[in-house]
Amino acid sequence: MPFPRKFIWGAATSAYQIEGATRTDGRGASVWDAFCAQPGRVKGGQNADVACDHYNRHREDVAMMRAMGLRAYRFSVAWPRVMPRGRGRVSEAGLGFYDRLVDELLAAGLEPWVTLFHWDYPLALYREGGWLSPESPRWFSDYTAVLVDRLSDRVTRWITMNEPQCFIGLGHLTGTQAPGDKLPMKKALLAAHNVLLAHGLAVQAIRSRAKRASFVGISQTGEVGLPATGSRSDVSAAREANWSVADGSLFNMAWWTDPILKGHYPEQGCRAYGKAVPKASDADLATMRQPLDFLGLNIYHGNAFRRGKKGPEAVASDPGDPRTHYGWPVAPASMYWGPRFAHERYGLPLVITENGMANLDWVALDGHVHDPQRIDYLGRYLGELRLAIDSGVPVLGYFAWSLMDNFEWSDGYNYRFGLVHVDYATQRRTLKDSALWYRSIIRSRGGALEVAARA
Ligand code: FCB
Repeated sequence: MPFPRKFIWGAATSAYQIEGATRTDGRGASVWDAFCAQPGRVKGGQNADVACDHYNRHREDVAMMRAMGLRAYRFSVAWPRVMPRGRGRVSEAGLGFYDRLVDELLAAGLEPWVTLFHWDYPLALYREGGWLSPESPRWFSDYTAVLVDRLSDRVTRWITMNEPQCFIGLGHLTGTQAPGDKLPMKKALLAAHNVLLAHGLAVQAIRSRAKRASFVGISQTGEVGLPATGSRSDVSAAREANWSVADGSLFNMAWWTDPILKGHYPEQGCRAYGKAVPKASDADLATMRQPLDFLGLNIYHGNAFRRGKKGPEAVASDPGDPRTHYGWPVAPASMYWGPRFAHERYGLPLVITENGMANLDWVALDGHVHDPQRIDYLGRYLGELRLAIDSGVPVLGYFAWSLMDNFEWSDGYNYRFGLVHVDYATQRRTLKDSALWYRSIIRSRGGALEVAARA
């Protein structure tokens, strides 16, 4: 049985990971440029100055998306390209780039899905306090207003931000991603609070300024809790683990999603973080909680849990269990339970805004890129998504991560997540076998999926 007729089939990227041209046309620096320049931060001292050179090759890349049969393309806008200092002056050249990209996508029959912020925070604003500044929510909504004024006659799909779990949790708490800060929890949670306010103000800006009815959401991630068996008690243990905010890290769904969809911080998190939790006034909580049209989920993997005496118990994986090149477990059931649990808790329609895997791909002697593992991985995950939809979970679309191989943050170019192979020395693009496979899946609306039942 195929996927719903209106199901959205897409692929995703983010600005910093593909654009390159970091000093072209007056683009300002981002925290990522500064981070890459610090020795020891990125594997092999690599940076994204060139990346996939998408800034200069966007026309060719849109033609490639069309050849792949994609119906939608999720990309992000580089804030410092549009506003070199993060606030104040707008760069016409920077804004013009996204303006043209949107036109090219529409002309090629692709629906643009715009992420306003995917981690490349303006360095100038960081120096003014960044997400710790009480001004930061307003800076973000002012930037949002600029984009909405320019693009909303054509763009109707908006994602305010991508994975605050990562740009705050990894960027400001553990320090493994830009800007590389290791703040105490109290400060990290203050930054998080401002991020949630920024999201709310941005949604308000979109709603009040957009020229056409807009469809607005946010992309969240987390570790999906998977039941070790189908028993009721294991399912409830997995649910508890899925929403847990108990481990003192910021890598969870609930802290970042409850305030914006339920209007309060999760109680378990308030207990776990204790005195570090910022005071949230009613006005703050009301700002964070703006009506959304969908919740975006970035789903890659999950962990199995069973019901233990004191709560959910993690079940260790077996040695030799399948893992991707990145080291993440292959856990297709995440694509069933992740959407199910999210729908149960929030009731909103869902969009899978990222899913995919890193693989050891290269161009073979025959000129093709053979990536059967990726085909199998995507097939299994899409099969599980179908099961979730069949069980009544409203999932509106799916974006493969990623359109093409790109700069994988502090891991540099060492992991290939693309449906399209990029030879970084020549910038030559080669459609991998998985890209051709995905095209056949899109054409058949998923009817060509071999795996529709759980293995
Ligand atoms: C997600 C990020 C995306 C990419 C994938 C592999 O967490 O949103 O930019 O790095 O992981």
